[in-house]
Amino acid sequence: MRNLLIILCFMALFNSCANSQEVKRNDTRLEQLLKNRRSIRSYTAQPISRDTLQRIVNAGAFAPSSYGQNPVEFVVVEDKAKLAAVARAKRIGAPSVRDAAAAIVVIADTSKGELWVEDASVAAGYILLAAEDLGIGACWNQIRDRDGQRLSASDEIKQILGIPSQYEVLCVVALGHKAENKAARTEREQKVQQRTHFERF
Ligand SMILES: Cc1cc2nc3c(=O)[nH]c(=O)nc-3n(C[C@H](O)[C@H](O)[C@H](O)COP(=O)(O)O)c2cc1C
Repeated sequence: MRNLLIILCFMALFNSCANSQEVKRNDTRLEQLLKNRRSIRSYTAQPISRDTLQRIVNAGAFAPSSYGQNPVEFVVVEDKAKLAAVARAKRIGAPSVRDAAAAIVVIADTSKGELWVEDASVAAGYILLAAEDLGIGACWNQIRDRDGQRLSASDEIKQILGIPSQYEVLCVVALGHKAENKAARTEREQKVQQRTHFERF
């Protein structure tokens, strides 16, 4: 019985060490930000200041782009009727856009290169991180390759916002002050170890 207790104590100690590995290391600010960023789809009615919106857009504009062509542009929408119209332009709907305080429509000039999807995706990722850094909730809403009510979701949004024809819409990032809290992601949850391959698969 005593031996069994000792074994159980050792097992509990080993387990708690394994669990706390992540916590023990001091995460950098960026690592904390990466873990804390979650898709937030519920927002308060409080508007986002213009300065904050511009700083979030800036993050997208500083993203790297293929050949340094910077084909990605951003349409910021705050008008409630426009937000609702943009949300409806995706056939299955985009409730987080409808309920958002603002949204950033991430578009790319396709005449500036064939890698616009990658360019716009990097920019949208930066936007999500900048929003979290500034305490704003954000959620990516996919538009590329999605149906609209009559046309593609991208073409309908282009009509609503007067976006020229050579542009495509990648996504709409809904933004707002958080009305929901989500736990930070962990390395274990993200299966980081299992998904990392050094030298070969
Ligand atoms: C390419 C891409 C497309 C996504 N499309 C949508 C979408 O259309 N609607 C939505 O609510 N969330 C969308 N998301 C958010 C994901 O659902 C979310 O990132 C995922 O469930 C992980 O949750 P987390 O962001 O809280 O870690 C998308 C995310 C990515 C990267």
